[in-house]
Formats: sequence, structure tokens, C-alpha cells
Amino acid sequence: MTFPPDLLPLLLRTSKLAALTGAGVSQESGLRTFRDAQSGLWAQYKPEDLASPQAFARDPKLVWDWYAWRREAVKAVRPNAGHYALVEIEKRIPQFTLITQNVDGLHRFAGSKNVLELHGNIQRVRCSECYTFAETWGDDSESVPKCEVCGGLLRPDVVWFGEALPRDSLEAAVEAARTCEVFFSVGTSGVVQPAASLAYAARNRGAVVVEINLEPTPLTPKADFFLQGKSGEILPALVKAVWG
Ligand code: OAD
Repeated sequence: MTFPPDLLPLLLRTSKLAALTGAGVSQESGLRTFRDAQSGLWAQYKPEDLASPQAFARDPKLVWDWYAWRREAVKAVRPNAGHYALVEIEKRIPQFTLITQNVDGLHRFAGSKNVLELHGNIQRVRCSECYTFAETWGDDSESVPKCEVCGGLLRPDVVWFGEALPRDSLEAAVEAARTCEVFFSVGTSGVVQPAASLAYAARNRGAVVVEINLEPTPLTPKADFFLQGKSGEILPALVKAVWG
């Protein structure tokens, strides 16, 4: 794999890098991306119609079951070479922040340390009313499990459409984007705010923007470098090319 010649020395001297990842990074682990067609039982639903407070209010059991299905899918997969390459980059860049929209937890599983999970984590479950986290819950097939403290319905601790992102993580992500020298946007369609605006925040403060994606996105015309292909192939090759 060949890279633009000026990218490699730039990365070698970078001391502050922020990387935003999306569902594409986990695609090679065997997880469908958010906007890919769904399979089997769930093919008739659009994810956007299931990942919302309105959907949960309308049919909590349907939404609970969809997340239970996805939780099992996540448990069955492992990080891929792209996740591990990001671990290697973290070891080599003095200040590295990994900002992810993924709820699968695969970056931490791979060993990344400074990870901001902007959209939550599918393995965490909390009360929809009082926010108490639940470690275990009974799963009868009839109804959504309830909170032991207040009796409210349990839900995944993920951010749904129309909900606010966790404030601390978002603030830290904005700070990392505004102060980095290089910003990576990897495997994300860049259409969901506020995550999508982070690349622009970085660019406006003078950072070099590097995009890695299978296909062009709305960010591509603004990126300084667009590396087209699979993140599980490009990221390890990049680590090798820069740091040997
Ligand atoms: P999307 O499904 O919108 O986009 C996945 C992107 O990854 C696409 O641009 C693909 O071209 C690219 N892609 C697929 N496979 C790839 C690979 N192997 N290597 C590199 N790129 C690849 O997923 P996200 O951008 O993550 O939020 O979606 C953002 C958010 O939209 C999700 O976190 C979710 C949804 O709303 C919430 O649920 C709050």
C-alpha cells in the first residue's frame, strides 16, 4: 500500500492526534454498519425507527429486543486489525484521544485507553426513569425488565436520536478536536451531529484532516488526505509505514 509522501513525516512528528471512529471500523469484525440493511427478523425496520425515545415509548419491548439481539452480536465478535492499529498509534503519539460513535466497546477490548464513547455502550443497561445502572436483569419473553429501585423500564445506555450526548465526553471530544494537530475520521459516514462537526472544528483550528473510508463522504472534499479502503487494512499499513 502506498501513502501520500507528505503524510508519513507529518504523522511521525505529530504530538497531538484525535481520531473519530464510526461503525465502519467494526465492519471487519463482522458487525453491520448502522446504515447497512439489517438482516433476518429485523430487516423490515430501519435502525433510525428503533433507536429513539419515541420508538421506546411506542413499543418498549420491540426496542429492548432489538438491542438484546445487537448485544448478543457484539458479544460474539472480536476487535479487528483496525482497532489494534489504533492501539499502536496511541502508544506512539504523546497525546492521543479516540472519540468513537460506536457502542460496541471494541476499542477498549482491543486495548485503547483514552476512549470517549460519545454514543454510550450497548453492554450497559440503565433505568429509563431514575438512571440507576443494572448489572443483571431477568429476561422473560413477555415484557421489558424493570429497575429494582423505582420499577421504571430498563433500557440500553446508548444515545438515541433526539437525545443529548453525555456532556463530559462531548466536551472532551470538542477540546481534543480543537487542539489536535492531526484529526482522523475513520469509518464514519459523517452525517450524524454533533460527532460529524468535530472534523470541521479541528480543521478550522488548523489541524490536518485525514479521512479513511471505503467511499467518499460529505467530509471528503474538505479532508487534506482521503485514504480509500478498509480501515482494517489501511490503519495497520499506515502504522507500519510511519513507525516501521
Ligand atoms: P454509518 O453506518 O452511517 O457509516 C459507516 C461508514 O463506514 C460508511 O461511510 C462506510 O462507507 C464506512 N465503512 C464501511 N465499512 C468500512 C471499512 N471496513 N473500513 C472503512 N470504512 C468503512 O455509521 P456511523 O457513521 O458510525 O448513532 O453512524 C453514526 C451514528 O449514526 C451511529 O453511531 C448511530 C447512528 O445514528 C446513534 O445511534 C446515536
